[in-house]
Amino acid sequence: MRSVIDIMDLSVGEIDSLIETAESIIKDPAAYSEKCRGKKLATLFYEPSTRTRLSFEAAMYELGGQVLGFSEASSSSVSKGESVADTVRVVGCYADIIAMRHPKEGAPLVASRYSSVPVINAGDGGHNHPTQTLADLLTIKREKGRFDGLTVGLCGDLKFGRTVHSLISAMSRYENVRFVMISPVELRIPDYVKINTLDKNKIPYIEVTDLESVIGELDVLYMTRVQKERFFNEADYIRLKDSYILTSEKLAGAKADLSVMHPLPRVNEISTDVDSDPRACYFKQVLYGKYMRMALILMLLGV
Ligand code: CP
Repeated sequence: MRSVIDIMDLSVGEIDSLIETAESIIKDPAAYSEKCRGKKLATLFYEPSTRTRLSFEAAMYELGGQVLGFSEASSSSVSKGESVADTVRVVGCYADIIAMRHPKEGAPLVASRYSSVPVINAGDGGHNHPTQTLADLLTIKREKGRFDGLTVGLCGDLKFGRTVHSLISAMSRYENVRFVMISPVELRIPDYVKINTLDKNKIPYIEVTDLESVIGELDVLYMTRVQKERFFNEADYIRLKDSYILTSEKLAGAKADLSVMHPLPRVNEISTDVDSDPRACYFKQVLYGKYMRMALILMLLGV
C-alpha cells in the first residue's frame, strides 16, 4: 500500500510512466472506462477547491469507479473534534483510496500513517500540491516536448504557493533547468526550498521583483495567485495582491513559444485578454490534471 504525499514520492521513471498512461487515456478514453469498476475514491476536503476535488471525482467516474466524501470540514465529524487519524481509519472502511486536502501542512502525511488505503495529498497548507504538479508536468511535456534545458519563470506568491514548491522539486530532477523567481521581497521562495532543493541540487536561479525585465528569457511563465487565506494580516494582502498582472502588452516582450501557465484559481494575475493568446495554457492544464489523476489512481490501486 502506497501513498503520494510529496511529488518526490514518485521517481522520474514513475512520472514518465504516469505521463505515458495519461497520453494513452487521452487517445482512447473508452479503453479505461471500466478499469476501476467496483472501486471507490473518498475525497476528504477540509479546505475549498474547485479543480482538484472535481477533477479527482471526474477521474474516478471516468474510470468506472464511484466517489464519496466531504467538501468542507464543517459537514463532517471533524466539526465535533474528530482527528485526521481517526477520520482516515474510518474512511478506509468505506473507500479504496483517499484524496485529502487540508489547511495544515503535514496533515495528509499524518493521514497516510494511519490509513489502511492509499492517501493522495491534494494540497496541504502552503507546503505541497503534488497532483497539481503532475498536471503541470504533462502540460510542459505536451507544450515544450521536453523538461531538460528550460528556463522556468515562477511569478507571484512564491512563499505560500504550494504548487510552486512542488513544481520546483519536480523540475529540479531534470538537466539544465533554470528558475527565474519573480516576487515581492516579502513573498520570496522559503529558505527550506532553496536549501533542500535548489542549493542541494546546484540548480541555478535568480530572484527578481520585476516581471518585464526577465519575461523575454523564459520558456515557461508560471503565474500564481497571492494566497489570501495564508496571510495573517489583511493590510499586507491588499498591498501585495496585485503585484503582478500579466497583460497582452507585457507578453509582447516574451518568446513566441512561451508557455503561460497558472494552477488557477486566477484572481487578477492574468488579464482576460491573454486567454486568447496561443501561449496561454492554463485551461489545458486543468484538463491534463484530470488525466494525470486518472493515471495516478490506476497506479496506486495497482489496476
Ligand atoms: N489548482 C487548484 O488546486 O485549484 P483548486 O484550489 O480549485 O483545487
